[in-house]
Amino acid sequence: MSPTNAMLAAGPTPTAASRRRAPEGLKGLIVADTAIGSVQGDEGFYHYRGHNAAELAPLSPFERIVELLLDIDDPGPFLARQRATVEAPFVRAVADGFGNDPMPLGPLVAGLWAAVDTTPTVDLDPQGRRNAALTAIAISPVLLAGTARLLNGLDPIVGDPGRGHAADYLRVATGVEPTTEAVRAVETYLNLTAEHGFNASTFTARVITSTGASVPAALGGAIGALSGPLHGGAPSRVLDMINAIGDPERAGDWARRHLDAGGKLMGFGHAVYRHHDPRSETLRRTAESFTDPGARDLVERAVDIEQRLLSVLAERRSGRRFVTNVEYYAAIVLHLAGLPQDLFTATFVVSRVVGWAAHILEQASDNKIMRPSAHYVGQGAQSAG
Ligand SMILES: CC(C)(COP(=O)(O)OP(=O)(O)OC[C@H]1O[C@@H](n2cnc3c(N)ncnc32)[C@H](O)[C@@H]1OP(=O)(O)O)[C@@H](O)C(=O)NCCC(=O)NCCS
Repeated sequence: MSPTNAMLAAGPTPTAASRRRAPEGLKGLIVADTAIGSVQGDEGFYHYRGHNAAELAPLSPFERIVELLLDIDDPGPFLARQRATVEAPFVRAVADGFGNDPMPLGPLVAGLWAAVDTTPTVDLDPQGRRNAALTAIAISPVLLAGTARLLNGLDPIVGDPGRGHAADYLRVATGVEPTTEAVRAVETYLNLTAEHGFNASTFTARVITSTGASVPAALGGAIGALSGPLHGGAPSRVLDMINAIGDPERAGDWARRHLDAGGKLMGFGHAVYRHHDPRSETLRRTAESFTDPGARDLVERAVDIEQRLLSVLAERRSGRRFVTNVEYYAAIVLHLAGLPQDLFTATFVVSRVVGWAAHILEQASDNKIMRPSAHYVGQGAQSAG
């Protein structure tokens, strides 16, 4: 046996292997200190710098959430000014070449890379990093909405600095003057989902920042992670599921068939929350605040279907508790606010870019490159000859 094979056969020393093995999916593993916020799964509670996020969300302007999470004073005027700088020819240029992907995340990554300072975070001072982060937060909604409109054969709409961030997003995304009810609903959603601990996309942003890479580089990775159906890609599938079920009486049979075929029930389950997801409760109340009879009918159906799907999950996985997660009522709220399904994940980006930005700034301010290890379980080394 060559020295290399002998070393492979021996593997890592037992103490190192047992002591340093991370849990599957890194669940529960603490990998950093943060002052931005935390998710307390057992209590069904999360906060932004000590403020109860679920209580704050329905009452605050989005700009207040940005101020709190990024720990900066009065970002509103900067956000408004930057939002209005995104002109239609720029949106067209970044959307060009992304043909028929209905989710406008590719153009967003390209647009951020083109419009936000690409200086590596290690070479920027704190003010430079904050400017890059705030610019990304400001222009994301206009870029996303504009490219989605282009994909649907419509012209992009320029941001209006005279409006609040949430109201302006809804206007440039739908092309109509939004109602106060719709703006409040979308703003609640954006506030609720702006930050949520070390989820997959936030962790990705921190890993990329740890290499010293630029703000748009870290955001590009985070956007990729968020696009997955198990993360930010879920809400559109929730609406498909509710539409496919139709009559709540059919929910049980539909769910059993879906699970038998290896599918998941979208909008249910959570890696951290075990008893309830506070975001889902706030969003259910937000959905219930729509007064139109058609909206009331959809919400009543969704509430009925939710209970039936939870029963099927409990029956199939006895002993486990499943929560209704944020995505279930997010889908209803975004739909009732007039946003097309193609923009559901994009709307999640409009909010979560704030949490990513806060984590990028925190990581860059006290950085150590992240470099975990893997336990080799493949075949022995082959000699080159
Ligand atoms: C969010 C999610 C990825 C968390 O996954 P997780 O951390 O593996 O969750 P758990 O450890 O509680 O899962 C336990 C088991 O229940 C299954 N499970 C979890 N959620 C499920 C769901 N919604 N439908 C069916 N099965 C589900 C898991 O696949 C796992 O099965 P296994 O033991 O055979 O591997 C998962 O619940 C999920 O895929 N939900 C649906 C997608 C969704 O709504 N995503 C938005 C998240 S906010």
